[in-house]
Amino acid sequence: MSAPNATPGTTPRTGPRPLRARRSNLAVPGSNPKMIEKAKGLAADQVFLDLEDAVAPIAKEGARATIVAALTEGGWGNKVRTVRVNDWTTKWTFGDVLEVVGGAGADLDCIMLPKVQTAEQVVALDLLLTQLETAHGFEPGRIGIEAQIENALGLTNVNAIAAASPRVEAIIFGPADFMASINMKSLVVGEQPPGYDVGDAYHYILMQILMAARAYDKLAIDGPYLQIRDVEGFTRVASRSAALGFDGKWVLHPGQIDAANEVYSPRQEDYDHAENILDAYAHFTSEAGGARGAVMLGDEMIDEASRKMALVISAKGRAAGM
Ligand code: GLV
Ligand code: MG
Repeated sequence: MSAPNATPGTTPRTGPRPLRARRSNLAVPGSNPKMIEKAKGLAADQVFLDLEDAVAPIAKEGARATIVAALTEGGWGNKVRTVRVNDWTTKWTFGDVLEVVGGAGADLDCIMLPKVQTAEQVVALDLLLTQLETAHGFEPGRIGIEAQIENALGLTNVNAIAAASPRVEAIIFGPADFMASINMKSLVVGEQPPGYDVGDAYHYILMQILMAARAYDKLAIDGPYLQIRDVEGFTRVASRSAALGFDGKWVLHPGQIDAANEVYSPRQEDYDHAENILDAYAHFTSEAGGARGAVMLGDEMIDEASRKMALVISAKGRAAGM
């Protein structure tokens, strides 16, 4: 299901956007050419070059040119190439988009918009991208949008944000800004706030984001884990959102990439089992000359719902190259 393209001037796109794996989403400061160069050779599914919080205000305008050079030079392989611009409440957003898309729009997959609070903020970016694509002769609608949910208002509006434009490919949780915005009494991003011992303090937020993403066929991406040397902690926290159905997580350090790729891929045994279910169901269906109800696969009863669950695991496995 795609969102209706209700706003005149936003860009229609025929068919669903391609599903590109984003198990590991590597953050790289756009002001650091050395780190950008190194990122090209790493195994992250997505690299996003940051113009927002990883770049000091004084370095932001210079970083735009560094990013344009890095994108146009190439060498990114199959990675999703994304730039995180500054949010609409700053003075930089339009300049970030103008310079990055104007200079490297043909070598760029997505713009990440942080601190999204309303659907209108997504529409504004969509309109700007449409004009730039037209002005520079790029394929209309090819640049996607990733929307970061980082405060209470954004979460309240997350369904409308997911539906705001066909360009939206992913909804991303920004836990650090989010925790600050709701006054959560913790300084350790992603870990449970001390004193809250009755469950997972993030469950509600993660589920809201996941439901919006699934309702509108978007990816759901978990945010950063700041203890970058604690790969075990990263894996533990990532496993929670992966278990719910999230598609990937930010990584802040090369040491977190393999863990993310593993946690957000299906286990080999689950992938194999899913393929077996699909084969068995297809076989029984064709034997019956069309649709058929529940059938047995060994000791397990499978039906149309099992087939759908198997399709999800199989699609994630294939996207991960299994
Ligand atoms: C990421 O941007 C975060 O605020 O966690
Ligand atoms: Mg943030």
